[in-house]
Amino acid sequence: MKQQETFSQDEQSGKWWQQAVVYQIYPRSFQDSDGDGIGDLQGIISRLDYLKKLGITAIWLSPVYKSPNDDNGYDISDYQGIMDEFGTMADMDELIEKAAAADIRLIMDLVVNHTSDEHRWFIEAASSPDNPYRDYYIWRDPVEGEEPNGLRSIFSGSAWGLDESSGQYYLHLFSKKQPDLNWENQQVRKEIYDMMNFWLGKGIGGFRMDVIDLIGKQPDLELTANGPKLHDYLQEMNQASFGSYDVMTVGETWGATPEIAKLYSNPARHELSMVFQFEHVTLDQQEGKEKWDLQPLSIRQLKEVLSKWQTSLGNQGWNSLFWNNHDLPRIISRWGNDQQYREKSGKLFAILLHMMKGTPYVYQGEEIGMTNRPVKAIEEVEDIESINMYHERLAAGFPIEEIMTSINTKGRDNARTPMQWDDSETGGFTTGTPWLPVNDNYHEVNVKQALADPNSIFYTYQQLIQLRKENPLIVWGEYELLDTADTIFAYYRKYHGEKWLVVANMSEESQTLELKDKVKDQIISNNDSLTVEAGNVLLQAYDAFVVRV
Ligand code: NOJ
Repeated sequence: MKQQETFSQDEQSGKWWQQAVVYQIYPRSFQDSDGDGIGDLQGIISRLDYLKKLGITAIWLSPVYKSPNDDNGYDISDYQGIMDEFGTMADMDELIEKAAAADIRLIMDLVVNHTSDEHRWFIEAASSPDNPYRDYYIWRDPVEGEEPNGLRSIFSGSAWGLDESSGQYYLHLFSKKQPDLNWENQQVRKEIYDMMNFWLGKGIGGFRMDVIDLIGKQPDLELTANGPKLHDYLQEMNQASFGSYDVMTVGETWGATPEIAKLYSNPARHELSMVFQFEHVTLDQQEGKEKWDLQPLSIRQLKEVLSKWQTSLGNQGWNSLFWNNHDLPRIISRWGNDQQYREKSGKLFAILLHMMKGTPYVYQGEEIGMTNRPVKAIEEVEDIESINMYHERLAAGFPIEEIMTSINTKGRDNARTPMQWDDSETGGFTTGTPWLPVNDNYHEVNVKQALADPNSIFYTYQQLIQLRKENPLIVWGEYELLDTADTIFAYYRKYHGEKWLVVANMSEESQTLELKDKVKDQIISNNDSLTVEAGNVLLQAYDAFVVRV
């Protein structure tokens, strides 16, 4: 029977996560409390007041489970244990409790496409082809003495790792130390649902599901994303675990189109709350190539893509809004200007995104305008993805300068440098030696400075988050793109007769916007000297504002 359930479009019957603003914590780099140079759970607890002040209502916590850290926690060796460097289960319980007391829900990262090769299941599985755990992973015989097929790892090289003792290959779509789980095995699925229930029982606010679009893969067909059973698995997971809780679930879904997004997030289908899709952040890579193959961003395309996502889900799907995360470069360095216009362009990106429909995510440090940290040589790089790509491209004959430009533009370490809290040594992140150097600009760019300056980016974020809490128009309103010059991004939001206009000059040139609407009042802007009235509005570099019209 076809169910009629769709999303409601108002605050009375809406879900909490449609009205939430999520803050992503990359725990390794957030706040160290014990001087080992690595952030930890007590560090996070000590900063809850700061997050409360910012106004966010949920935290997406990148993985804190036991892990040998081949991929900084995205290689899990025990889903029900806490990484030693981060603390203990008692610390975790304390964090959940104290966050709840501050009305902040804790969203755990759920990494179940793969485990670490040091997970008990894989150790068993690799011990013998007859081991009962063998089928928890994906094994194939060699073909003519070689890898079973041409599947490539997202971290470079073949996706097939040789297990010398049996002569078979196992699948790893990420690093060799991240073997893929076999989702076709019912026992694997049950173990995962049980583990999820363990965490749900602790009162967490939900899950962010790492590369969840890959779990339905068909390796023999070299098909990885959006496999035929993906949505069956998610429906089964929903029923077996979080479906009976009031939690939020967000799927990391790289290749989702709006139609695919509806499969995941249409409430009638009982899968996930929302998608986290990446179409806009792939626009500065050459089509059909890898993220390292750079091309300039076309603002016109950015407007098209973001607007398409604003209008195409209707009440049958829900989307996330973000510029940054721990896998992406810092937005100000990427598409703004991290020198002369660091604060101005930072505020512009904040205003543009936080006025859209969807659930916004703020990545730690974004709210104080943190920037990329450039490196000179590969020895300074920690991230396995960049390191593997470097060696692969070097062997393929790419010039070193070109490879280093790619790493400095797109490498993941850019956004993983420690949080800058104040201007003391290491930016107040640790009393020891930070695992990854702090960006040199911590003397000027830090939380202490931002809190002391009423005009800082921090207060723009704080104001935007507050506006979302107070104005259903931002959460539920209709979206309409205005037809303007290419580098002006302007749109309306409309709700029950109320209409707001959002305008952003995405360039360093001054330009004029012809404004037909009568302006009722100004809501927020990144330029205090700007008065917006009907007629010709002169926009300076990176000017952005919101007015009620
Ligand atoms: C996506 C995560 O965000 C990324 O950091 C990780 O390397 C891969 N999935 C593999 O887990």
